[in-house]
Amino acid sequence: MSFVLPEPLVFAGRMDAAEEASWLATLRLAMPAETIAPFRALDDDARQRAEIAIVANPDPADIAAMRGLAFVHSLWAGVERLVGELGPAAPPIVRLVDPSMSRVMAEAVLAWTHYLQRDMPAYARQQRERRWAPLPYRKPETMIVGLLGLGALGAAAASRLLDAGFRVAGWSRSPKTLPQVETFTGEDGLSALLAKSDVIVCLLPLTAETRGLLGARRLAEMKPGAALINFGRGPIVVATDLIEALDDGRLSHAVLDVFDEEPLDPASPFWAHPGVTVLPHITAPTDYATAAAVVASNVSNFRLSGRIPQHVEAARGY
Ligand SMILES: NC(=O)c1ccc[n+]([C@@H]2O[C@H](COP(=O)([O-])OP(=O)(O)OC[C@H]3O[C@@H](n4cnc5c(N)ncnc54)[C@H](OP(=O)(O)O)[C@@H]3O)[C@@H](O)[C@H]2O)c1
Repeated sequence: MSFVLPEPLVFAGRMDAAEEASWLATLRLAMPAETIAPFRALDDDARQRAEIAIVANPDPADIAAMRGLAFVHSLWAGVERLVGELGPAAPPIVRLVDPSMSRVMAEAVLAWTHYLQRDMPAYARQQRERRWAPLPYRKPETMIVGLLGLGALGAAAASRLLDAGFRVAGWSRSPKTLPQVETFTGEDGLSALLAKSDVIVCLLPLTAETRGLLGARRLAEMKPGAALINFGRGPIVVATDLIEALDDGRLSHAVLDVFDEEPLDPASPFWAHPGVTVLPHITAPTDYATAAAVVASNVSNFRLSGRIPQHVEAARGY
């Protein structure tokens, strides 16, 4: 009896040696029956036979050099850079959908929503001014949190916010039904959501449609005094328009984890703006072990069924 060994899984990423070694060790632990080799360790024949590449910010030339790939599995949830760099001829791109990441993101959405609900930016300011001035308490059930994006992360955030007593509304591309969440779609739906929400949380992917979505016109549609949390991608919000909306008091505060350029330029006005909380893209980092488990499950299903996991739709861009 003879066994045909599956082709090695190829690991392709631009990172330092220590990070690559950590990834390889974690992936090998999650998939002991698989051989996992870095792209550079394979000869051209092996590269041509490769079926699956596991990638973290790969060199696009490396992916193009593997002409038989059934799919490319990203270790990140946001794949706009990969989609852009690999272009239309790319093999199917599977992004990371990790329930553990959704939980961490939901925790962050709740934490920063409470930060705004409990007026922490104002109390921090008052402390610096040595000013003792209690503000009225706002009950969560009097506040509407509007989620832009009701995907893996948005849906998890919705249920966490509901558990904490907030009212939740959400906007997505296709119509969605989520328990106790008022849902919207389309241009008018976005206007309605922006107008009623006390806090807007952006959990959209960056695509041709969402780039610059939150510019002057949309920010002006937000409820006066509302706050914005952007945990999606920086270029979804027009930075200069956001600063204007904060400067003239239409918006009360912005919590930003993502920016047009990262790390954020030391000269950016966001750093010192009293209405902005800057976070260094930390809300829901990829966890090596849980990400490797997700990849392992997708690889094993593919080995058994030949079915390519759910992947990016080229026309939608996510
Ligand atoms: N800051 C961080 O640490 C961090 C960590 C992980 C991810 N992220 C970001 O979060 C994003 C979302 O992740 P996810 O896993 O939740 O993605 P997802 O499951 O693909 O969900 C995306 C959601 O956005 C909606 N959407 C996309 N384009 C739209 C449009 N043009 N108009 C209206 N709705 C639109 C989708 O609508 P449908 O439901 O109709 O498809 C879906 O509800 C990622 O792409 C990444 O950029 C950030």
